[in-house]
Amino acid sequence: MSSSAAPAPSTHSAHSTPMLINAFDMMVPVHQSPGLWRHPDSGVGQFATLEYWTSLARTLEDGGFASLFLADIPGLYDVYGGSAEAALRGGVQAPLLDPLVMVPAMAAVTERLGFGVTASVTYEAPYLLARTFATLDHVTRGRIAWNVVTSYQDSAARNLGMLRQIPHDERYDRADEYMDLMYKLFEGSYEPGAVLADAEAGVFVDPSRVHPVEHDGRYFSVPDQALTHPGPQGTPFLFQAGASRRGQQFALDHGEAIFFIGNTPELVRGWVDGVRSGLRERGRAEDAVKIFTMATVVVADTDEEAQDRLDGYRKYVDIDGALSLFGGWTGVDLAGADPDSALEYVATDANQSALAAFTKLSPDRQWTVRDLAEFVAIGGRGPVIAGSAQTVADELERWQEATGVDGFNISAAVRPADLERFTALVSPELRRRGLLPEDPSASSGTRTLRETVMGAGPRLADDHRGADYRR
Ligand SMILES: Cc1cc2nc3c(=O)[nH]c(=O)nc-3n(C[C@H](O)[C@H](O)[C@H](O)COP(=O)(O)O)c2cc1C
Repeated sequence: MSSSAAPAPSTHSAHSTPMLINAFDMMVPVHQSPGLWRHPDSGVGQFATLEYWTSLARTLEDGGFASLFLADIPGLYDVYGGSAEAALRGGVQAPLLDPLVMVPAMAAVTERLGFGVTASVTYEAPYLLARTFATLDHVTRGRIAWNVVTSYQDSAARNLGMLRQIPHDERYDRADEYMDLMYKLFEGSYEPGAVLADAEAGVFVDPSRVHPVEHDGRYFSVPDQALTHPGPQGTPFLFQAGASRRGQQFALDHGEAIFFIGNTPELVRGWVDGVRSGLRERGRAEDAVKIFTMATVVVADTDEEAQDRLDGYRKYVDIDGALSLFGGWTGVDLAGADPDSALEYVATDANQSALAAFTKLSPDRQWTVRDLAEFVAIGGRGPVIAGSAQTVADELERWQEATGVDGFNISAAVRPADLERFTALVSPELRRRGLLPEDPSASSGTRTLRETVMGAGPRLADDHRGADYRR
């Protein structure tokens, strides 16, 4: 049973529509469910250890997850009440470890799991970030993905050398140039085969096959060669989650997989249709991009047990934490607001779609501040699906059918317990239905993440914008 609607009874036999699943997580005490770190089953007290993450990575691989997707932000959530107090007290996306640093340890204990890591084009230097991702592509043997974000926090801008954020749409204009530069570094600097390591000839790299990128743009200037040669994927697999009008254009121009978070299938369907028609307008195949939407799953042996479990979770929710999360996303401070007052849309320079989802994109429901805080407190802006493995699988199928997505970003309320329970209970049910590969090890080989998700080759598709820069 989900928070949105009761599912139809299961009438399934095995079929072959695949469902891609990523775990949606963050290297923090609280990602999407404020307060739940206090639940007795929570293990996040250990979130700053290697073992927490290596154990989770192994679990996810066994459960047929395509990747562990790691959110990241370069600032504290300090909009609510004008300070970071509620976020710090509640461990809400702080303290935040560096996910890029953690990937090699997780890669060392897994074979197939991909790692989708968020990095901000507004704050990272492109020349160095290209090296970081190329390094990770090498050492994971092609299992790295980059979630390209433009960021949305004034707190990040302030601490990273700017007075305030670059205005919303301009961030994306700048990001377009950033990406073109990255394609030059990943695809156009080292020719394939430039690294010879030929001891007899005394040539490690053939310099005639390494080219300066000669980028001289409005925002960036990089005249010389890339610092390192590209890994198996060339450009890392690209995730994107822009949801505003400008953000969606950017997602279509660069993303190979696009993420949404929406609290109703109708809302997500609208965005999915926008992606498919945008691809058609660009002369690309409708399925040239894979689409994911987020769901928080609470699973138990029976529907009743799962519902009890979810009810139990509600005792731990942290409303201040939820409002600090919301303030961080949207730039809107609801401190001191009457809990029964109606939410209204205002344009900000933060994440515009997060507020729109509860206001102008939700015409059938008037959300109050209280509704919002209670909703966000478990599972952030996405749906919560609670039930037996059968019910959860039914609900995921219903969402997939109703929205047209290719799969889900599965989030845990109590971490990592809910992801472990998913792997133990839901993954076998999805396999039984033919939605996940039966035995992932059988089909493994040394597949890159791009191959796993797209079902095509290890490099960018020929009709992707980045392929134009290929040597
Ligand atoms: C599933 C999902 C994950 C996201 N993860 C991050 C993240 O880790 N860091 C970040 O700065 N933004 C993240 N975002 C925000 C998006 O990059 C984007 O800013 C947001 O969806 C709003 O779209 P807009 O920028 O077009 O208004 C995420 C969005 C979604 C839907």
